[in-house]
Amino acid sequence: MASMYSKWKRFTFPFITLSIALLFLVTNYLFFTINYTRHLQDEFQNMTAYLKTLRNREWFEVVSQNIIEDEKINIGVVNMDRVRDEIHLRARKHVATYVKNPEWYEVVAREFRDETFNIGLVNVDGITDKIQIQTKAKMVNVHFDRADEGIQWADLAPERIDENSTCPNIPMPRFEDYRELDVIVARCGDGGLRDVFRLQVNLVVANLLVRSGRKDNQPVFAVFVGSCDPLWEIFRCDDLLWNEGNSWVYKPELTRIQKLVLMPFGPCQFVPPFSHSGEDLWRRLNHITSQNNHHHPPQREAYVTVLHTSEDYVCGAIVLAQSIIQSNSTKDLILLADDNISPQSITALRAAGWKTKRIQRIRSPYSQKNTYNEWNYSKLRIWQLTQYQKLIFIDADLIINRNFDKFFIYPQLTAAGNYQRHFFNSGLMLVEPSRCAFKTLMKKMMVVESYNGGDQGFLNEMFAWWHRLPAQLNYLKVFVDPKDRLHWIHKDVFAVHYTGLKPWKCFEERDCNWDVAEFHRYASNSAHKMWWKVYRSMPKNLRTYCSLDRYRVKNGTSPPKGHLVVNKGL
Ligand SMILES: *[C@@H]1O[C@H](CO)[C@@H](O)[C@H](O)[C@H]1NC(C)=O
Ligand SMILES: *[C@@H]1O[C@H](CO)[C@@H](O)[C@H](O)[C@H]1NC(C)=O
Ligand SMILES: *[C@@H]1O[C@H](CO)[C@@H](O)[C@H](O)[C@H]1NC(C)=O
Ligand SMILES: *[C@@H]1O[C@H](CO)[C@@H](O)[C@H](O)[C@H]1NC(C)=O
Ligand SMILES: *[C@@H]1O[C@H](CO)[C@@H](O)[C@H](O)[C@H]1NC(C)=O
Repeated sequence: MASMYSKWKRFTFPFITLSIALLFLVTNYLFFTINYTRHLQDEFQNMTAYLKTLRNREWFEVVSQNIIEDEKINIGVVNMDRVRDEIHLRARKHVATYVKNPEWYEVVAREFRDETFNIGLVNVDGITDKIQIQTKAKMVNVHFDRADEGIQWADLAPERIDENSTCPNIPMPRFEDYRELDVIVARCGDGGLRDVFRLQVNLVVANLLVRSGRKDNQPVFAVFVGSCDPLWEIFRCDDLLWNEGNSWVYKPELTRIQKLVLMPFGPCQFVPPFSHSGEDLWRRLNHITSQNNHHHPPQREAYVTVLHTSEDYVCGAIVLAQSIIQSNSTKDLILLADDNISPQSITALRAAGWKTKRIQRIRSPYSQKNTYNEWNYSKLRIWQLTQYQKLIFIDADLIINRNFDKFFIYPQLTAAGNYQRHFFNSGLMLVEPSRCAFKTLMKKMMVVESYNGGDQGFLNEMFAWWHRLPAQLNYLKVFVDPKDRLHWIHKDVFAVHYTGLKPWKCFEERDCNWDVAEFHRYASNSAHKMWWKVYRSMPKNLRTYCSLDRYRVKNGTSPPKGHLVVNKGL
């Protein structure tokens, strides 16, 4: 009996135990295969539908069998959660052997080293765009309604607006749902330069970037994929980290973007504080700026003008400098001059307050020879003044009436409308110098046509998305209303733009635009007086320079009416 028991104990018991264990494993295995394989495969396919195209079926079978075998050996019982995690892990590795991460991803991942980061997809479908990323990066789709198809670019940049004008609504995402993003990947379609959807996508990305509150001072990145270029008005070439073909990675300076997203959606509304709702935005703009100045050296800012080709505008530039100085400006005054400006003129211009710098003029590729705007692209040289962060460019036929310094707060490109289609007037504009921007302008000028052959037409193509100043900041002296005979300009305008015949070519007593019927629209006694008032208040040496006979029509010929500068009263 004892031997029977011990024999049973020695052979039969282990045998039965083993059999039960085996039976358990087999049942388990069958149970798993029947009940869970389909579920897992389902879930797995949901996760990476893209795998289907990679013959994942065979792959799945092999991998899942392996995992189940491993699990069996380890613990005898298959832990479904662990199997699932394992499948996910191996799936990513497997994908890696077939599809490489997009290169932009590697660029961004390097920036984050080993840290995990969150990716927001804007108008990007991870599957159709083949964004297959095998890391710990989390991806979310950013939802927003597409801007109404009916909104045209002309609605964003109407010819005329007033302080109550507002922009058409461009829907944005619910930002509070996407606070933790480190990288925004966007595709913006290919609707061309003045495409509203392209702008919308760029604005969504910009807004998400500044609202990412994940970590203090942690960089955030914007990635563009697909066939459209990012808006360089928002995503500056200076912040471009990497570009290859149609993929772009930007590491934007956030303070700048913060200010940009405070601007209206386009030139459909005046920049703060000039619009109806602008006071609050103006305060916030100033707040961001003062905070930033607290951390960084003071902004380097200057007024700049350009003289080239002829000396016609030398006197204008002298009076302009004096008008800025009289406004108690604290900014630098920079004047770029080509070799056609004589050394004597340079001396006078320096005496007037300009720091001068010689430049080579630039020919407009789209202008006729010997036309009035043949060399107007010389203005583009201001982008080379990279010792300054911001410049307010002013044509020499303007004067400043009131202190203008606070307007350096605006981003590139801010200007006033030109009373003509959706264009801005390039006679006064805020720009941000940059080597790569200058290079881009030089490259594009060969292919981008200008509507008038001049810099204004070109710059309006390059900066189609601009920020609108009210007319009082660049008051174009053009009076088109036939009922308006007074042509009166309020003394409170910030800057007057002397379109038509220039004041320094007229008599002091009389605006000579009155003398020629076709120039009547430019005539204004009040504007004329403003210019001469600055002129009168200048030191004598500067006045003398301005009123030399240089502007007299040449020798002997009787001067056409009104084109004379007067030489008396000095
Ligand atoms: C896969 O997706 C479908 C449809 O979205 C859903 O009904 C199903 O529950 C998902 N399966 C798993 C396992 O997640
Ligand atoms: C803008 O709206 C205000 C208040 O509604 C009004 O007083 C003002 O005249 C309006 N301005 C223009 C230019 O219509
Ligand atoms: C410039 O400052 C002087 C002296 O403080 C003052 O009298 C003058 O009104 C100021 N000019 C402007 C345009 O603010
Ligand atoms: C080009 O520059 C000249 C002065 O050099 C100026 O009179 C003219 O208005 C400018 N034209 C354009 C289109 O900007
Ligand atoms: C002006 O006229 C004088 C003689 O009348 C002539 O010698 C001189 O060259 C002329 N100057 C110009 C700039 O035409």
